[in-house]
Amino acid sequence: MSKILILPGDGIGIEVTEECIKILNYFKPMFDIEFEKELFGGASIDKNGQPLTQAVLDKALESDAVLLGAVGGEKWENLEHNLKPEKGLLMLRKELETFANLRPGKVFPALLSASSLKKEIVSNTDILVIRELTGGIYFGEPRFIKKVNKKRIGGNTLVYDEDEIRRIARMAFIYAKKRKNKVTSLDKANVLEVMQLWRDVVNEVHDSEFRDVELEHLYIDNAAMQVIKRPSTFDVILAGNLFGDIISDEIAELTGSLGMLPSASIGNKAGIYEPVHGSAPDIAGKDIANPIAAIMSLAMLFKYSLNLDNISELIDTAISNTLNSGIRTKDIHNDKDEEVVSCSQMGDIILTNIDEIKSKFI
Ligand code: IPM
Ligand code: MG
Repeated sequence: MSKILILPGDGIGIEVTEECIKILNYFKPMFDIEFEKELFGGASIDKNGQPLTQAVLDKALESDAVLLGAVGGEKWENLEHNLKPEKGLLMLRKELETFANLRPGKVFPALLSASSLKKEIVSNTDILVIRELTGGIYFGEPRFIKKVNKKRIGGNTLVYDEDEIRRIARMAFIYAKKRKNKVTSLDKANVLEVMQLWRDVVNEVHDSEFRDVELEHLYIDNAAMQVIKRPSTFDVILAGNLFGDIISDEIAELTGSLGMLPSASIGNKAGIYEPVHGSAPDIAGKDIANPIAAIMSLAMLFKYSLNLDNISELIDTAISNTLNSGIRTKDIHNDKDEEVVSCSQMGDIILTNIDEIKSKFI
């Protein structure tokens, strides 16, 4: 029996996870899957005064995987830092020890013209960002806003120990070996000591265990430029928590829309699967969000947490087929021959496509 905890969260998180639930309901009779929905983020703050309750955390710890929508919204922006919806997400990542965040940025041929970059630049782009997720400046202590001599000072701490760097670096090399055998590690070793350590440890892991994998180091500022200039030359991008957060949004834009980028956060306990886009309060509740990143995240859940690689491939293929037939949500619509559909219609069409090709995969 596989247990999945669904945390829709806030804004469009609720709508896009609803489309994933349709797909889960479809597969439920075929596999021994059980799932349950709980409040998280702003929705949990409204009901329980905190973004992640102990009861929900306990359920997550007992699950095989967590499927998440998105958290946050204007309503909760002015809360104290510790009570914000985002804090719930960070606590969940930390408690589940999901130290590796995998964010694949692959350009679908059907969406080449949806990117803001020229077709010939983005064509053949297939990048896997591996972001360290439970350390770095997101969690470093001390962290504060305080008054010293009547002046406010804010501070955070960027700290990594060598074990944290080593385990995420190993992960990057292992994935590169299954792909195009190249790792680009991002740092700021020219300015920050902690990033010099990052570079040194990545080199050590490479030289001792993965000499056969090509390794490139880029300073984060240069990398931000290179991924726009030559996206198709990257394979695995390895980055710390903050740089990985930033570069993955940039890579999302290459693929046409932030609504196209899924993620898997894996580590020592249940994996967390979430679309990279946020709660998008401006379009929430209108049934116009793009559910594809969420559905691709569900495909990653089947692969990494349930070891059902064939179902993962089935879902991904159904998404490609849907896009190839010209079906688009508003955010990726670019041509008058394409048909614009709502969030729920997109979910329905993908499910119909899954049903049509299922016998090839199961
Ligand atoms: C992400 C998001 C989160 C992050 C926020 C919502 C805390 O931007 O998953 O990329 O910064 O990690
Ligand atoms: Mg982000």
